[in-house]
Amino acid sequence: MIGSTRYRTHTCVGAADAAGERVRVAGWVHRRRDHGGVTFIDVRDRSGVLQLVFHPDAADAIEAAKSLHPEDVITAEGELVPRDAATVNDKLPTGAVELRVDRLEVLTHAAPMPFSVEDEGAEANEELRLTYRYVELRRESRLRALELRGTVVRAIRGVLDDEGFLDVETPMLTRSTPEGARDFLVPARLQRGAWYALPQSPQLFKQLLMVGGLERYYQIVKCFRDEDLRADRQPEFTQVDIEASFVEQDDIIALVEKVLVAAFAAGGVTLEAPFARMTWADAMRRYGSDRPDLRFGLEIQDWSQAAAASGLGVFEGVVAAGGVVRGIVVPGAGGGMSRKDLDGLVAEAQEIGAKGLVWAVPGEGGALRSSVKADFLAGLSDAFGAATGDLIAVVADQEPAAQNVLGVLRGRLAERHGLVPEGAWEPLWVVDFPLVEWNPGEKRWDSLHHPFTSPRADDLGLMESDPGAVTAVAYDIVMNGLELGGGSIRINDPEVQQRALAMIGMDADEAEARFGFLLRALELGAPPHGGLALGLDRMVMLLAGAASIRDVIAFPKTATGGDPLTGAPAEVDAVQLRDLGISVTPPPSPPAPKG
Ligand code: AMO
Repeated sequence: MIGSTRYRTHTCVGAADAAGERVRVAGWVHRRRDHGGVTFIDVRDRSGVLQLVFHPDAADAIEAAKSLHPEDVITAEGELVPRDAATVNDKLPTGAVELRVDRLEVLTHAAPMPFSVEDEGAEANEELRLTYRYVELRRESRLRALELRGTVVRAIRGVLDDEGFLDVETPMLTRSTPEGARDFLVPARLQRGAWYALPQSPQLFKQLLMVGGLERYYQIVKCFRDEDLRADRQPEFTQVDIEASFVEQDDIIALVEKVLVAAFAAGGVTLEAPFARMTWADAMRRYGSDRPDLRFGLEIQDWSQAAAASGLGVFEGVVAAGGVVRGIVVPGAGGGMSRKDLDGLVAEAQEIGAKGLVWAVPGEGGALRSSVKADFLAGLSDAFGAATGDLIAVVADQEPAAQNVLGVLRGRLAERHGLVPEGAWEPLWVVDFPLVEWNPGEKRWDSLHHPFTSPRADDLGLMESDPGAVTAVAYDIVMNGLELGGGSIRINDPEVQQRALAMIGMDADEAEARFGFLLRALELGAPPHGGLALGLDRMVMLLAGAASIRDVIAFPKTATGGDPLTGAPAEVDAVQLRDLGISVTPPPSPPAPKG
């Protein structure tokens, strides 16, 4: 162990094996108890907690111990002894021993803490915890999450190093990469009026490395995206970024499976490769999502044909207008739901984006409790295979709206009704994505992944005539309903690249201005290549059982993109702005109060 014996000879947990020896440990005062003249202090270091005991005969030490406060930093020395049988604590790795202290030194005193380190249950609000993040990091759960992150990273590097992948760094001050988010911009002092963009991913550089003959690249790298934050999104996050030459889709899939098997094993989870695969079209049809959670069933079923003749106006109208009537069955969920609960479900579906929702709960002997007259739903229970007490939720709408609503409801209802099995891991490759999707707001085609994704060779002829029908050689890896990573085989023909940019509305001049450097590289001998990027934070979040990626990032940002610890983002000196030639328009002031 690195460290000076001036402070410690053992870590707290390492000391457990040293019964009978003289031991010195160092750390933070975790907890203190006084029991009939004897003082107990739990001292904590990164390894865990060790009980120190101060007997009245060690007068100096006990005097010093009495003045200790939580989180003081100390070093303590004495004999490591077994505890009395009655006081052994099986739950702690050091629970069978204690350090009988005869020398105690306070290395630094701690001021009163903003919140308790020891009592993780006493939740302070997030703003306060992030302001004192270094105090929060002392908590067991936070330390373990960061240790897990380190272990996972080591396992990933192990696989990629063994496979001959080279860790190459790419620029942080660069030009915009179109990954679909806003850029963070950095003004260039030496070229006034010009801006760098922080990379949304190293996408273009890793492709240029392939043109440069590197053949196998990886990087565990920060990426920056100015987008609305969620539990699984941060403005700066980390990708395991991979690219290889002379490969096809199956080569990248096999490699990433190896990486994930090793990464999850490092987190104590066994995954069996090869993982399941599903086409994007099947995922959307059966689960209403391009990242289906396969830990539970609740597949979306179609009732359009029967609904067209059901006699129910909304159903018939939607089908006549080319829409669909589809639903899911939630086993056992309906029996315990009151009328109010069921009406609440309708409101919830509307909030997700449905025009409405029809619910039905089969009872004994063919009876049906439902939100519309049961006659309109004749045959529904049988068609959906629903049993007594199940909940049937039906949505009538155009595609993809109906599918999207049912996809979201499926996940929420499974969670709410306890249908997600504990400890299940369901990795899934989603393949055969469309190359582009229609953006009705902007009235143009947008890339589903990014514009460097290769169309399937057979579909090249459709790029201009029927963009929506072109399938991409793109693949996402999904785990338990979370998108862990995405990648594709890239375009390596400059002419196809031009056409792909034209598909998303970029004319030759704009393509040249923004991506001329890539087009030039593709003209100068680009090997076939492809790759993928995994979201490291998301992977560790899943393994840590955390609810947010913030829990597995040492210094995360809040929902408004701020860092309460340093106060970033913050105003800067007028001089700095002047050097950069930037003037800031103040935000609009709120309207003056009336009267
Ligand atoms: P993509 O945009 O799918 O692909 O990103 C890859 C993975 O990165 C993670 N991720 C995020 N994690 C946390 N916060 C965010 N804001 C965030 N955004 C993305 C996700 C996602 O699956 N250049 C391509 C990869 C390639 O084609 O090789 C890319 O960046 O887990």
